[in-house]
Amino acid sequence: MEEYLDGIKHWCLSVYLYISQYLHIAPPSSSTNKGKTMAFSATTQGAIVLTIFLLPILTYLYWGRSSKQAKQSNAVKYDIKKKVVDAGPLPMPTEITSIFVHPIKSCHGLTVKKAKLLPTGFDLDRQWMWVTEEDFKFLTIRNLSKMTLIRTSYDESSDTLTVTAPSSPSDSPSTSSRPQQFTIPAHPKPTYDPSTDTLTVTSPTSTSSNPSQIIIPAHPPPIYNATTDTLTITVPSQSSPSSNPPLKFTISAHPTSSELNTSTTPVSVEIWGKRTPAYAYPASLTEPFNSFFGKPVRLVYKPPFDPSAAPRRLGSNGAADVLGRDASTCFPDMMPVLIGCESSLNELNQRIRAAETSTSDPTSTEQAQFAVDIRRFRPNILVKGNEPWDEDRWETVRLVPSPTDTASSEGSAIVLDITQRCARCQVPNVDPDTAEKHTRQPWNELMKYRRVDEGIKYKPCFGMLCVPREEKMQGQVLGVVEVGMKMEVLEVTGEHRYIAGFS
Ligand SMILES: *[C@@H]1O[C@H](CO)[C@@H](O)[C@H](O)[C@H]1NC(C)=O
Ligand SMILES: *[C@@H]1O[C@H](CO)[C@@H](O)[C@H](O)[C@H]1NC(C)=O
Ligand SMILES: *[C@@H]1O[C@H](CO)[C@@H](O)[C@H](O)[C@H]1NC(C)=O
Repeated sequence: MEEYLDGIKHWCLSVYLYISQYLHIAPPSSSTNKGKTMAFSATTQGAIVLTIFLLPILTYLYWGRSSKQAKQSNAVKYDIKKKVVDAGPLPMPTEITSIFVHPIKSCHGLTVKKAKLLPTGFDLDRQWMWVTEEDFKFLTIRNLSKMTLIRTSYDESSDTLTVTAPSSPSDSPSTSSRPQQFTIPAHPKPTYDPSTDTLTVTSPTSTSSNPSQIIIPAHPPPIYNATTDTLTITVPSQSSPSSNPPLKFTISAHPTSSELNTSTTPVSVEIWGKRTPAYAYPASLTEPFNSFFGKPVRLVYKPPFDPSAAPRRLGSNGAADVLGRDASTCFPDMMPVLIGCESSLNELNQRIRAAETSTSDPTSTEQAQFAVDIRRFRPNILVKGNEPWDEDRWETVRLVPSPTDTASSEGSAIVLDITQRCARCQVPNVDPDTAEKHTRQPWNELMKYRRVDEGIKYKPCFGMLCVPREEKMQGQVLGVVEVGMKMEVLEVTGEHRYIAGFS
């Protein structure tokens, strides 16, 4: 079609040049014979030029649109039928090596050994989201990279999430540069304050004179000591407590509808240009975080099974007419689950190292050692993988409990439909531990060779987006996904094509 358009353009241009020259050489007022025969009025000239220009363009546009429509409807029929064209042999089974859950969209994730899979995605994954206080618009790493420094820790015994952020360095001159440590109970008995919907946890090392002295940092992971059942957190520096209340609060990880009724407000939030119902926590709960964001913010929650704030219907390749069934998710950008492959990441890192070594100052070893961590891509499931990028052709995968794991009675096979490749923006350039945005990588390297999807030519792809099959378990936990489980590819396709547009 581009060739056709180019042809038309050249043709138009030459005809136009010829005609205009001819008309101008022979002005309408001329009294010669030649002048008389060619004396078109200005209107006629305009009409000739317009016809010559517009007719082919309109024809082109009409053709382009109808052929695009035909292509789209083919894609739709194709996906529903799940016809397998020759996309090569099935790859060997591989194994799950890590599972990540990101309770708050764009904030630091949790690395877990196992997690429940719901139709909307993993339990606790992206069920919370930060929004602007003013108009309840979603906030992500794209708006503010340091959001990745906000950590959420999950405590299974109290079924609570504790959210912490580093107090902003500008308004917290550190009084001590030496690292400090403090210890808090790993399984606290929090006291619930219904007015603010907060759970207060008392630290065994905090003194009654100054219990708020603790500021939980984002960087160091807590160390769990099973003997004492405590978490030890190393603080890089301690700032003045009076000027910096800790950026920390604790909320129920699975709030009941009565808890939501008493402690949250139903709101409508905007994500990717669409409004969706959610529950907003009181401004008082998250007020200390306003300084971190540099603007008033609120935290909102979308329950995975609540019809009054139903999960968002999937769009793009997950829309009902493409996927063949209704499916939804809470606050991920697109699809309930993202799978990444170690083999592909390793291959990418080799390329990045080669590129950075050749471009950087040879004395700088830091550049040469630069490698991106999988957490930058925010997948839920990481598998070993086979050939790098073989995941590009996965169409259906099955997670199978390890046969040696007989104790795990909850384990049953889970099937996921791969909807599409995950097209990336520059979020992976942000280091999740420091929030520093790398000026080049992995974006530059990915752009060189991972613009592999016909449907989204200007973005590189990493990872595969998917939707769990519900089978007969509507509105239920679909199963438990564990590190060590086997992943089999059931079907492959050569026809993945990204349909632009968010959920
Ligand atoms: C945050 O970034 C997203 C994506 O770029 C944008 O759609 C959204 O409007 C931004 N939100 C705010 C509050 O600026
Ligand atoms: C855990 O705490 C106990 C009691 O304080 C201590 O003896 C033990 O060494 C600690 N374990 C680790 C791994 O630090
Ligand atoms: C919330 O609580 C109020 C007062 O108890 C009650 O009238 C209302 O029906 C409840 N709403 C929901 C959704 O449970």
